[in-house]
Amino acid sequence: MSDGRIRLFAGSAAQALTQALMQALDAPLGRFELRRFPDGEAQVEVTESLAGLDAVLVQSFTAPAAERLFELLLLAEACRQASAARVFAVTPYMAYARQDRVTREGRAVGGPLFAQLLSAGRFDRLITADLHAEAGGGWFTVPLTQVSAIDLLAAAVRPTLPQGAVAVSPDLGGAKRADRFARALGVPLAIVHKTRQDGRSVVVHRVLGDVRGRPIVIVDDMIATGGTIEAAVGALREAGCAGSIHVAATHAVLAEDAVRKLAGSGLARLFCTDSVPVPASLPFEVTLTSLAPLIAAALSG
Ligand code: R5P
Repeated sequence: MSDGRIRLFAGSAAQALTQALMQALDAPLGRFELRRFPDGEAQVEVTESLAGLDAVLVQSFTAPAAERLFELLLLAEACRQASAARVFAVTPYMAYARQDRVTREGRAVGGPLFAQLLSAGRFDRLITADLHAEAGGGWFTVPLTQVSAIDLLAAAVRPTLPQGAVAVSPDLGGAKRADRFARALGVPLAIVHKTRQDGRSVVVHRVLGDVRGRPIVIVDDMIATGGTIEAAVGALREAGCAGSIHVAATHAVLAEDAVRKLAGSGLARLFCTDSVPVPASLPFEVTLTSLAPLIAAALSG
């Protein structure tokens, strides 16, 4: 990207990440206003000329994701109206990405649909992080860069990694990601075989790998309700794990009573990123690693 010619725009759920990107890119905020009409509709206006400048729009698709998506699309449109040379989107947490296949006749598959709607922003490049299934990259019709926080999370875990720890994927789908994490830390890998019953509950079938007498570090792309982590910890305890329980996840969405479930599972420390806003105070230790350097590198590449 052109040095000194970037303006950053913070979506309503991306203040902290945008602040971090201001430093990483050494770029100022662009000026814009978001107004609400009495009926709730949004109006977005960029209040400076962006002629010759690149606009980087940052948004996190936390709930309500569809509203935040439309806000981003309005912002992209406003940047074009303000003559931006190029418009980039940084949306590290991709909502609906777990709806990636037909699971029942008559049930909509939300992931590709959300991606198509997002692509309507005609971004010169879209940057996302640890998309639930990497193959979801094919859903987009704008140039996409997928970054992964797994090496960052491994680096954050390393200084406090307990002796004899095992890295654990809480499901088969996350095995490749967890394998990368385990290799980065030089620790063995175990996998929990789970199936999802509904949006809140999962059933664990068995633990693959030896965790007896060992502390564990569970690694996942995201924590939504915390049901997956809670079930995985229960199964790992039954399988004989011992010592501390750490969890590393790119997207700490922490919906509903996730915090209670994580605390109740005996979580010692959560390692996560700033892809979504993380509450300032949580009943367990938190190590927050910013995605900003990775995203800045992706924008410059
Ligand atoms: C599932 O395939 C994902 O990788 C996460 O494990 C899951 O979506 C987390 O959701 P929750 O916290 O609601 O169990």
